[in-house]
Amino acid sequence: MTQKIIFDYNNMMADKLGAHGITASDIDKIAPQIKSAFDTVMSEKGKGMMGWSDMPYNQGEIVQEILETAEYVRANFEYFVVLGIGGSALGPIAVFQALCHLHHNDLPKAKRGGAPKFYVEDNVDPERMQALLDVIDPEKTCFNVITKSGATSETMSQYLIISDILEKAYGTDAARHIIATTDSKKGNLIKIAREKGYRTFYIPDGVGGRFSEICPVGLLPAAVLGIDIREMLAGCAYMDEICRDADPRRNMALMAATLQYIAMQKGCNVTVCMPYADSLKYISDWFCQLWGESLGKRYDKEGKEVFVGQTPVKSLGVTDQHSQVQLYAEGPFDKVITFIAVDKYRTDVTIAEGCADIPDVHFLCGHTMSELINTERRATAYALTKAGKLNHTIILPEVNAHTLGQLLYFFMLETAFAGALLNINTFNQPGVEEGKNATYAMFGRVGYETKKAELDSAPQDSADYVL
Ligand code: PA5
Repeated sequence: MTQKIIFDYNNMMADKLGAHGITASDIDKIAPQIKSAFDTVMSEKGKGMMGWSDMPYNQGEIVQEILETAEYVRANFEYFVVLGIGGSALGPIAVFQALCHLHHNDLPKAKRGGAPKFYVEDNVDPERMQALLDVIDPEKTCFNVITKSGATSETMSQYLIISDILEKAYGTDAARHIIATTDSKKGNLIKIAREKGYRTFYIPDGVGGRFSEICPVGLLPAAVLGIDIREMLAGCAYMDEICRDADPRRNMALMAATLQYIAMQKGCNVTVCMPYADSLKYISDWFCQLWGESLGKRYDKEGKEVFVGQTPVKSLGVTDQHSQVQLYAEGPFDKVITFIAVDKYRTDVTIAEGCADIPDVHFLCGHTMSELINTERRATAYALTKAGKLNHTIILPEVNAHTLGQLLYFFMLETAFAGALLNINTFNQPGVEEGKNATYAMFGRVGYETKKAELDSAPQDSADYVL
């Protein structure tokens, strides 16, 4: 029987929350807008930048090729390193953390199910690059360079460093250490890959970086790690199928987007993603990019300035109960908290007997850690609800490839519906261009001379303001 994830939004509603909650009539009042957002998403599915919505269904052949390549990597290499950033890194990190042993790289190979050690390098911090080089052996390493645009400076810098090391050591044999995942036509990486003879996987058209985890971007690293990628895609398909009803009361992704949208209208410009499981810790990072980059927009589709979006915050239960929950409980009414719960952890640990003469400690004994973490989650939700703070919970019966596929697809659909409700372009990211162009100009890239002149003529920093 399919283990369906559950969306419990009781604590968003006025019945539970009182004056700060959302009422049934708040939802009914915007019914035409919800219907129109639903129709927009449904009509755009599989087209334009919603190509990702076909990926649970149309990757039969590519999955086979990925599995064969994964076997080649597992048989020939001890280390698998992803070079990528943003959408080309956060999904692989999140899925690795969710479905592999939490100390994967510390285990002997047999206990890793034969998978290589796994690293994702998503920064250009020189100390981190050197640290990677200190722990891997390039001879035994396969590098997966991932970039949709084939042009991202951070990823291409890493590629240049690594390919130089490999070519100096192995000459033309260096190519067997590199797999490129990129656009089939655009960018520089595809040209380089063809020239050097790298194994290559393509990121399909209509799949933006932050929506790319369920294409070869995420599927190859997952398969190398021994994760059942067919089951993950089946989970995505399952979520897709249960989110086709125009009535938000029968469509969890649409309801989640609707509630977030209403909350935004009420001034909630912060959204907190708080899984109660270390395995799901990096789902928050992946979600923060998806939600932040997709919904943070200056203009709506008509070109009107709207300055919309919610600031995504990552949080981990129970850890951050001891750092952030004070703010969530007593701070401003500007947040929606999304708890992610796990019903059944893959393992459990009983709290040992002891301290029989100290009742304030002894009450813990005999309970399991899963009882404790879930009790603390429910208690935190209770406390926030009592304080009038909007919160809802996504419950995974357990963390496995299918439920994770459901969760990823749920968040992608929720984002698409929320963008449609906001009437914005969910799939672009014009706000990051200015910084990129300034970097190119400062680094002397050809074609950016005008930008360089603009930077040079901008007001210079004053020493008066530097202490
Ligand atoms: O969502 C996006 O498109 C971006 O955040 C990209 O993932 C990020 O900029 C990396 O881009 P690329 O995959 O082209 O290297």
